[in-house]
Amino acid sequence: MSDFAHVFETPPEGAAADWTIPQDWSAYTPVEHQTWDTLYARQMKILPGRAAEVFMKGLNALDLNTGGIPDFAVMNPKLQALTGWTVVCVPGLVPDDVFFDHLANRRFPSGQFIRTPDQLDYLQEPDIFHDVFGHVPMLTDPDFADYMEAYGKGGQRAASLGMLPNLARLYWYTVEFGLMREEGQLRIYGAGIVSSATESVFAVEDASPNRIGFDLERVMKTLYRIDDFQQVYFVIDSIDALKAVTLQDFGPVYERLQGAETIAIDAILPSDDVITRGNQAYAIEGGRFAA
Ligand code: PHE
Ligand code: CO
Repeated sequence: MSDFAHVFETPPEGAAADWTIPQDWSAYTPVEHQTWDTLYARQMKILPGRAAEVFMKGLNALDLNTGGIPDFAVMNPKLQALTGWTVVCVPGLVPDDVFFDHLANRRFPSGQFIRTPDQLDYLQEPDIFHDVFGHVPMLTDPDFADYMEAYGKGGQRAASLGMLPNLARLYWYTVEFGLMREEGQLRIYGAGIVSSATESVFAVEDASPNRIGFDLERVMKTLYRIDDFQQVYFVIDSIDALKAVTLQDFGPVYERLQGAETIAIDAILPSDDVITRGNQAYAIEGGRFAA
């Protein structure tokens, strides 16, 4: 996404014009496969009851724990049969227009590498565990699959209007860090949360963050942090409801947002539908950098 410095300006050597590279599955080492298995097993202890049913169902449908890093040649036909999506490998973060073009064509770009054993808990760049375990289960849901394709198409338009920062916030607070209501409870569907052992607990149980009912324009004005747990999560009622507000024409939305002030990450506004008023203790104490 646009928040990270791009390492490359043009496709690096070995990458195709659309920036894809072969997964080269047979080149993963036993340690790398073990890292996948460790991360998978750890999340399976934490996610039941915390992750949304739709995520758990998708994970199950994809059969991603048959031992080691999933082979895309095996996984893609299952995903494609469900929603027409496939996953492609890229050498890291790609330029916005390339990213949007993949999504608009129902291709999800995934990192090829996996984190090293000493980075199990935190890494800055998305690896294959974040991208596949975190994102792909939701792509098995027909409504979410539509939303992601529409997002790719909407990205191309937002870029031409100078509204990318606003659209990127929508992605951040839904695709990456979204919560939803399910059976009267708060459940996780965001990939950045479900792929993190610590944030999976923090996002739904900790007293620190604010949890606020999703409002499109509110979200598109809200700043976010990429270096630590979020200070606010936005809660959707259902994927259907998310789709309904985002499939409308953003022309008038963008007009209203033009020149509008951004909203601080810890702000609560009088108009907010406050689900949890957080005490922000985690952030105040210094977050992951606390002594
Ligand atoms: N409806 C948006 C537009 O008109 C496109 C979009 C759809 C953006 C879904 C994000 C998610 O630009
Ligand atoms: Co991600």
